[in-house]
Amino acid sequence: MKQQPARLVVGMSGASGAPLTVALLRQLRDRHPEIETHLIVTHGAALTLAQETDLSLEDLRALASVSYENGDIGAAPASGSFKTMGMIVVPCSMKTVAGIVSGYSDNLLLRAADVTLKERRKLALAARESPLGTVHLRNLYEASQLGAVVVPPVLAYYNHPFSLEDCANHVVNRLLSQFDLDEGGYQWTGLE
Ligand SMILES: Cc1cc2nc3c(=O)[nH]c(=O)nc-3n(C[C@H](O)[C@H](O)[C@H](O)COP(=O)(O)O)c2cc1C
Repeated sequence: MKQQPARLVVGMSGASGAPLTVALLRQLRDRHPEIETHLIVTHGAALTLAQETDLSLEDLRALASVSYENGDIGAAPASGSFKTMGMIVVPCSMKTVAGIVSGYSDNLLLRAADVTLKERRKLALAARESPLGTVHLRNLYEASQLGAVVVPPVLAYYNHPFSLEDCANHVVNRLLSQFDLDEGGYQWTGLE
């Protein structure tokens, strides 16, 4: 039987944190070129990309192996027969969390997340809002109950970050560790 390539779906929604998607795609491209990245960007994410980075949407898309229109609900990641390692949504807005937990798959990102859950593949959500309202907390609890792993993009100080890039890499490694693709070095190894 033909060997399937290793594929990871990367969804980017309109929460603050566009530099995190950029850092994640760069790390995968540079350190794991054997893994195909399949990128889906929402309209809200295109807005935050413009607000939070100097990159154009084309620049971002060029970091991924394959990039899709979010309205293209017939694209490959919309089907469970498109085998993947799973999916990371980074950053993950509260609207996208709501869509995932309700199964309201009216765009490709939501459909791909729905497929990831139904196929019992790993779904990691870098859910970002502050403060978190009761609806958000309820939906995140439900996402966890449904099998998603909630990996919020929160800082750690024990590894003495010097720059925003260090902080982004910490978050990215937390996400990639869900797929055993992290670089290590950032984990807490116990007090000296
Ligand atoms: C600059 C900017 C920052 C935003 N930050 C957040 C955020 O951190 N968390 C969030 O849930 N929504 C945030 N939003 C709102 C979402 O973009 C909005 O709810 C959008 O409809 C989400 O749709 P999507 O999940 O399809 O991308 C932000 C919007 C903008 C323009």
